[in-house]
Amino acid sequence: MAEEKRMKALILSGGKGTRLRPLTHTGAKQLVPIANRPILAYVLENIANAGIKEVGIIISPETGAEIKSTIGDGSRWGVSIRYILQEEPKGLAHAVLVGKEFLGDSPFVMYLGDNLIGCGIEKFVETFRTTGADAVILLKPVDNPQSFGVAETDSTGRILSLEEKPKNPKSNLALVGIYIFSVEIHRAISEIKPSARGELEITDAIQRLITVGRTVRSHILDTWWLDTGKKDDLLAANTIVLDEWFKRRIDGDVDSSTQITGRVTVEKGATVRGSTLRGPMVIGAGAVVEESFIGPFTSIGAGTIIKKSIIEHSVILAGAEISHIDRLEDSLIGRNAKVVKCHFKHEALRLMIGDDSVVEV
Ligand code: TTP
Repeated sequence: MAEEKRMKALILSGGKGTRLRPLTHTGAKQLVPIANRPILAYVLENIANAGIKEVGIIISPETGAEIKSTIGDGSRWGVSIRYILQEEPKGLAHAVLVGKEFLGDSPFVMYLGDNLIGCGIEKFVETFRTTGADAVILLKPVDNPQSFGVAETDSTGRILSLEEKPKNPKSNLALVGIYIFSVEIHRAISEIKPSARGELEITDAIQRLITVGRTVRSHILDTWWLDTGKKDDLLAANTIVLDEWFKRRIDGDVDSSTQITGRVTVEKGATVRGSTLRGPMVIGAGAVVEESFIGPFTSIGAGTIIKKSIIEHSVILAGAEISHIDRLEDSLIGRNAKVVKCHFKHEALRLMIGDDSVVEV
């Protein structure tokens, strides 16, 4: 028997990231931190845990350098990473086309770099190996299938058809954004044309596999899945990750007048004085928290300064400053942003807000 080709992984981290603006004007959405770790770190961990060693990451000209410098060569996860530039975001199947030379004739996991799921992908890889299918697609039942790519399956889990954002969905099974393909996908991609929105669609390529009689199977995800592309999803992802995966760990400098309850992580180099910390929550390296209440489901990024403020259920990115704010809830504060109350001035708001920002007063 011919030796089975080693499976590779292709992570898609190009794209425009319009839905998370203004954060993604200045940074890659795949690097937005969930519980102080970039989304891509969770993706790479899942790929490494499935035993995959060779990883290609599709990057765009705008955010590629930042992704490279944050993620590095992959040695942290025991994998080797090749960065592959996609000049323009011309669709998910176009990204596979750009990665073709790296992929060779190996089977591969294709993983959208802004997806977060509540479990590993080992069982999913197992489905691909045991069924001998040319594609296995990860699906999740959702309440609003009209907003997703939707798959119609038979009783054995074989996929019969796929549709992008259908008005009348044939099922409630949405495409999660994690796929496994055999080498056959390259031929299918070479046989499709760009869609009405001008992109080479992976759903069209998979539909092509089905049309020419190849087997396309489904694997149903039985934990949570978050597409972190929007603010509320990002806050939800932060809440779930803190809740499910965090333990109490105090490596920073916390004074005796600070009260800590629950699963609180304070990273090395952080300083906390005269405050109340109620978990689950995390304070990043080098942050300074003084006379503040930090409530559950909050991630305070590295190097932030929090003074005399009350913060709950929020994500504060690195280098931000929050001072004298009575209560900040359900908020996402960008890198190096300042939210400061000036006591001595009259009650007018004084704002310098970037493009596409949202302020709810
Ligand atoms: P999408 O969310 O479909 O697209 P986008 O990044 O342009 O985002 P938005 O809707 O916010 O404008 O992309 C899913 C993932 O795939 C994301 O990590 C970006 C990546 N991607 C590529 O790498 N190349 C592409 O051509 C496209 C369309 C997406």
